[in-house]
Amino acid sequence: MGLLDGKVAAVTGAGNGIGRAVALELARAGARVVVNDYGVTVDGRTPSSAAAETVVKEIEARGGQAVANAESVATMAGGQAIVDAALGRFGDLHIVVCCAGILRERMIFNMSEEDWDAVIAVHLKGHFTVLRPATRHMREKKYGRIVTFTSVAGLEGSPGQPNYAAAKEGIVGLTRSTALAMAKYGVTVNCISPTAETRMTERLPDARRAQAAAPPEAVAPVVAFLASDRAAHVTGQILHVRGNQVALWSHPAPLRAVTSREGWTPEALADVYDQALGQDRLRRLDALGIAWPPRPDC
Ligand SMILES: NC(=O)c1ccc[n+]([C@@H]2O[C@H](COP(=O)([O-])OP(=O)(O)OC[C@H]3O[C@@H](n4cnc5c(N)ncnc54)[C@H](O)[C@@H]3O)[C@@H](O)[C@H]2O)c1
Repeated sequence: MGLLDGKVAAVTGAGNGIGRAVALELARAGARVVVNDYGVTVDGRTPSSAAAETVVKEIEARGGQAVANAESVATMAGGQAIVDAALGRFGDLHIVVCCAGILRERMIFNMSEEDWDAVIAVHLKGHFTVLRPATRHMREKKYGRIVTFTSVAGLEGSPGQPNYAAAKEGIVGLTRSTALAMAKYGVTVNCISPTAETRMTERLPDARRAQAAAPPEAVAPVVAFLASDRAAHVTGQILHVRGNQVALWSHPAPLRAVTSREGWTPEALADVYDQALGQDRLRRLDALGIAWPPRPDC
């Protein structure tokens, strides 16, 4: 018996990389799968249905059941069509995994509105477009497993990817909020932060690529676990997966607080700030070799 026998899953961005590995793994575990992929380049251009169709053929060749869907998750109609494909072809929807993604890297001061909007649309809105119709169905059925995708770029910040990092941190907020909203309906919502070598990491500098040297297939069993009944008690969690390591991330919480009886003036806060609150140093300042505080000659 497979862990996901009888289940129906929809995986967005399943034509390449991590999404493809997840679709193959869910099918191997017994799920029938909607393989969604808009079939675009890493920067989101020149759509094609070939990517989704190829993965469906791979699943079928291994004895599984799947249907291709080449809609864009960036539109409400696309998200609805993905859910409709599951309900229409397989009669239900138990599992949603959101892997669709693109990159348009620019420093904040050089970023165009188009590059900002395109990345937010595929990642952040591209989760909402699928989750809205999916949660409506899951709420009625009182069953569901949702797996979202964030990134260390979102969790820690990424100087050359402000659009991507903002979308990815937004997805964490969406994950927590949807987990809270769906708890009473028995629906779990968890978030994966992956590190895996895919076409998306091809343009990273060599040192960063070396860190990513783990196959996308390593992420898939973690998603299959979260999608299964064995994880019915796990919700609102952020798991980082790289190769054979799975790490649980913390939720933001206040570190220190200071209260003034009379209310604050800027000067009064300045007087006590360093001692009373200090800073929670950005982890990536040191990792990226960024000097802070700035050296006097800068
Ligand atoms: N690879 C990593 O190390 C890494 C690190 C952090 C986060 N992630 C995240 O993991 C997820 C998968 O990334 P990947 O590395 O497998 O990338 P990938 O480029 O290999 O796959 C992404 C897929 O999404 C599809 N896609 C793009 N726009 C779409 C749209 N509008 N609608 C539907 N499909 C669309 C693409 O055609 C592609 O097949 C992404 O959310 C990515 O941000 C990956």
